[in-house]
Amino acid sequence: MAFKVTLVSTSPIDGQKPGTSGLRKKVKVFKQPNYLENFVQATFNALTPEKVKGATLVVSGDGRYYSKDAVQMISKYAPVTYLVNVKGFVQVSLAKYAPVTYLIIIKMAAANGVRRVWVGKNTLMSTPAVSAVIRERSGADGSKATGAFILTASHNPGGPTEVRSVSVDFGIKYNMENGGPAPESITDKIYENTKTIKEYPIAEDLPNVDISAVGVTSFEGPEGKFDVEVFDSADDYVKLMKSIFDFESIRKLLSSPQFTFCYDALHGVAGAYAHRIFVEELGAQESALLNCVPKEDFGGGHPDPNLTYAKELVARMGLSKSDTGGEPPEFGAAADGDADRNMILGKRFFVTPSDSVAIIAANAIEAIPYFSSGLKGVARSMPTSAALDVVAKSLNLKFFEVPTGWKFFGNLMDAGMCSVCGEESFGTGSDHIREKDGIWAVLAWMSILAHKNKDSIDGDTKLVTVEDIVRQHWATYGRHYYTRYDYENVDAGKAKELMEHLVKLQSSIPEVNKIVKGIRSDVANVSSADEFEYKDPVDGSISKHQGIRYLFEDGSRLVFRLSGTGSEGATIRLYIEQYEKDASKIGRESQEALSPLVEIALKLSKMEEFTGRSAPTVIT
Ligand code: G6P
Ligand code: ZN
Repeated sequence: MAFKVTLVSTSPIDGQKPGTSGLRKKVKVFKQPNYLENFVQATFNALTPEKVKGATLVVSGDGRYYSKDAVQMISKYAPVTYLVNVKGFVQVSLAKYAPVTYLIIIKMAAANGVRRVWVGKNTLMSTPAVSAVIRERSGADGSKATGAFILTASHNPGGPTEVRSVSVDFGIKYNMENGGPAPESITDKIYENTKTIKEYPIAEDLPNVDISAVGVTSFEGPEGKFDVEVFDSADDYVKLMKSIFDFESIRKLLSSPQFTFCYDALHGVAGAYAHRIFVEELGAQESALLNCVPKEDFGGGHPDPNLTYAKELVARMGLSKSDTGGEPPEFGAAADGDADRNMILGKRFFVTPSDSVAIIAANAIEAIPYFSSGLKGVARSMPTSAALDVVAKSLNLKFFEVPTGWKFFGNLMDAGMCSVCGEESFGTGSDHIREKDGIWAVLAWMSILAHKNKDSIDGDTKLVTVEDIVRQHWATYGRHYYTRYDYENVDAGKAKELMEHLVKLQSSIPEVNKIVKGIRSDVANVSSADEFEYKDPVDGSISKHQGIRYLFEDGSRLVFRLSGTGSEGATIRLYIEQYEKDASKIGRESQEALSPLVEIALKLSKMEEFTGRSAPTVIT
């Protein structure tokens, strides 16, 4: 089938600067004419020619509303023929409504000289699976992908319309040849290109491809052949997971009547992998899967795996007031919309993401075959608690503290300096790919559980639980009490003022201590305060203004940051952390242990004064 290429005139659209993780905006913003097209072309223009001409690209995402339209859309401009039927009524010719489709990204890829596009069945592919596909998959002729457009707004809600004024978002981000998000040098170029774009080429007459059926469709364009291959990425992803973990030992754990499990995909794309991995490969019960059918509006929910939004799982695990009654499972986990985030729960027990990465690092060598020859190093984002630092020190591992954003781990991994990394924002992963990986984290925990229980699964010995593992970890390494307060959709100007106020305060530490002691006398002194700045040890690039820190003499920390992933107003994040080494003091309620620092953070920042908020939107 042949296609032609036409050049379409366009003009720049404001505000297309990619954030922490690509361009994320409300659905209605994305629906503006040329909005998606401008961004896609700005991306092609930011890449070196060999990453476009003759290249293989992946195009897929979490299946949220507008994904299919973005991949291939029912024509907005299809001519509609009006027929007058015999009785004189006007009748629209249905034939003209049949899918005359625009394959926006595919059509633009074809027009830009891309050789082939790989699309997940029904456009579904989790962010970690995209990363795995770029790194691992080979086409029938040995072709390898050099990049991907990932269509997701991650943990932000989706759908056609806002319900009770909750923003519904769409997003697009570009990943590079190493499987990781484009670095700032590329995203800055993309943004610059969006400000000057005048035209884009598109293969308007490229016929539709059935994205629900696996197979290759070939076309012939002015620059030669162009293929669209639809495939099921679960095959590649399962293969990779099997090369990392000992599925047999996990299967044994899951077969023990003592071990019960529940996985909540929050109707995100993790559902497209969960059945295959947990039920078919590992033998979990069907009933272990909750909300595992991907939906374009995530069932009306907020697909963010935390104690506030993963309500059903939290209730099932015995952690909410609306407890579901029965005995909770021993192990529970959830994923976000694009399945790169994870939440780990035990029976009536929450594992903080900061503890989770530290515990995985501490046990990886023994429990996970992929790491059996050792860890190259570990890393965390700046606001993540220092639990990982203590493990790194005790195991004598290389350690790195990077700004928020998974892309900062990628360089370290490519340089062979880091094996396991994690963030407080429910992201955990390793150098098997260049994205965080929600299902990997669950399999890592299952591996640790299987390892700790290897001698007792068959016998009558009591199961070592998630809670036992965490308490044992605290007893060995000390505990980092930790909480995060989010103030969502705050007036952007006010949020900026609050941050400026905090920076100004930092010029005099004695002054800060006077204020702190005036609020509460039972906390340690502030020893230093700064704005976090990072120099990448691999490429030497410098990232400034990465969050405001107040560091206390006893290792406690207060961190203030503006989120880079919201699509509306500003979100202020306040991270509060206190380290406790004394084994007799590690069993306190977290919110109670942290209350003096919370009080100081709120008063020092004048949170209510600046934002008008007396309470955060979400506490994790
Ligand atoms: C995404 C990124 C993470 C980041 C998180 C929170 O999930 O991949 O690396 O930690 O967003 O970012 P934010 O800027 O909203 O705090
Ligand atoms: Zn995500």
